[in-house]
Amino acid sequence: STTKRFHFSVEWKNVTRLCQTRRVLTVNGKYPGPTIAVNEGDNVQITVTNNVPRNTTIHWHGVRQLRTGWADGPAYVTQCPIGGGKTYTYNFTVLDQRGTLWWHAHFSWQRASIHGAFIIYPRKPFPFSNSVQSYNFPPIIFGEWWNRDVERVENEMMLYGGGPNSSDAYTINGLPGPLYPCSTKDTFIQTIESGKTYLLRIINAALNEELFFAIANHTLTVVEIDAVYTKPFTTSAIMIAPGQTTNVLLTADQVPDSTAMFVMAARPYLTSVFPFNNSTTIGFLKYKNTTTTNFETNKPLLPSYTLPSNLPAMKDTRFATQFSDNLTSLGSKDYPCRVPKTIDKRVITTIGLSLQDCPVNQTCQGYQGKRFYASMNNRSFIRPSISILQSHYHNLTTTFSSNFPENPPHVFNYTGVDPVTENMNTEFGTKVFEVPFGTKLEIVLQDTNFLNPENHPIHVHGHNFFIVGKGLGNFNASKDPQKYNLVDPPERNTVAVPMGGWAAIRIYTDNPGVWFIHCHLEEHTSWGLATGFIVKNGKEPFQCLLPPPSDLPHC
Ligand code: C2O
Repeated sequence: STTKRFHFSVEWKNVTRLCQTRRVLTVNGKYPGPTIAVNEGDNVQITVTNNVPRNTTIHWHGVRQLRTGWADGPAYVTQCPIGGGKTYTYNFTVLDQRGTLWWHAHFSWQRASIHGAFIIYPRKPFPFSNSVQSYNFPPIIFGEWWNRDVERVENEMMLYGGGPNSSDAYTINGLPGPLYPCSTKDTFIQTIESGKTYLLRIINAALNEELFFAIANHTLTVVEIDAVYTKPFTTSAIMIAPGQTTNVLLTADQVPDSTAMFVMAARPYLTSVFPFNNSTTIGFLKYKNTTTTNFETNKPLLPSYTLPSNLPAMKDTRFATQFSDNLTSLGSKDYPCRVPKTIDKRVITTIGLSLQDCPVNQTCQGYQGKRFYASMNNRSFIRPSISILQSHYHNLTTTFSSNFPENPPHVFNYTGVDPVTENMNTEFGTKVFEVPFGTKLEIVLQDTNFLNPENHPIHVHGHNFFIVGKGLGNFNASKDPQKYNLVDPPERNTVAVPMGGWAAIRIYTDNPGVWFIHCHLEEHTSWGLATGFIVKNGKEPFQCLLPPPSDLPHC
């Protein structure tokens, strides 16, 4: 295989947005960071040098890391952080995957500014290439701009037990757009040619919000989610959760009017009791060879920017549900759907917020004067002092335990739940569960809908999964599995579990190592909405975790 080498320098960079200049953490001084583009089958070596006096790690979100868990990146799960002045080379091979993924820091909330696209060009021809005339559309990365240092925001949230401050703007490729103060010149504009169909690679890197996205007067045809091809379907808008990626086809089929600009917009699906950001970021599509007012001068020159009428309203659960119901695997001869039809093991876990008593002599800002936490089966994940993968590899079982409960702690009734008694004082710990190599594993994620109604985007490291079922209310183990889609369920790495409902995912555990499972809303990960699972080595040498690289950071 070919080796592709990249160099990442983690460094401060002064960035001005909303008329405020502040230093943000970047890779190679870029915000958002550089795009990594490789071919399916390539060996990839990315040398990360940390040039700031803070810890960091980088995660290649969605890259399976077959047998190379050491290169996965979540701090204290697969590696100790890269300290200031230190270097670590992430070395892995991209096998049997193609499409759009992304990379981001996996330490504290650093991914707010340390993120970028990770594109894998396919070995076989792109199945929709007949309808695409241009691949020259830059990745569209949604993010959040914070006027404050995000690591401080996280620390304060943990100290006082309240909800975090919200971000100050959503962004498209780091640009807030003209609906925010002082931001007209910081607007994403892309030129397209009339009549052509483009492939758009869309990534949600926002910390805490699922987003709707639409382009005025244009429809989008979804062809890929989380680097897995789908049966194409055409939609007026998309819903995308933090962690997810979506490839769509866009045809420049409009007769441009005098303004010659079409608004694209992203805004949150849900906001709730916490001070979340409910603003909207916009950018523009500009048709080539049309005259348009000069955009660069920050004067009141823009075409009127009414939001696209096809952008769903906030809280449009009907749209969100319909959209995700339309997603399926492509299931073609070249790309068959490999969903396990039977299972060896089912783990049922609640996901949701919880509360902890406030320590004596402290005031807490959470619900009823308590501290917010989050949990899975009433366990709040605590990061260990050395990485779980290192402990596991060297058989040091003292830093974590393998007794994550495989069922909710009591008969769970989300509708009748009393928030204070049912979700109080979760147990803290570093708990994972273990499965043999080659297990057909089902995980049922049951939202507790407690305090803060939202879809939890649950991300699984090291594996893709198939979303075989989802529904509202409580999962019913005797009835719901009968309705599963075992033919062409969507395959992805991050699932938005319906608010007040559940999702059942199936995984074939063919990747030995330690794999993090967590909510991709950053505040929920901080509060402990996470666990992990260990896939043991298989019988054959090629079914075993490789030894750690010699430059693996120490804690
Ligand atoms: Cu995109 Cu554990 O992360």
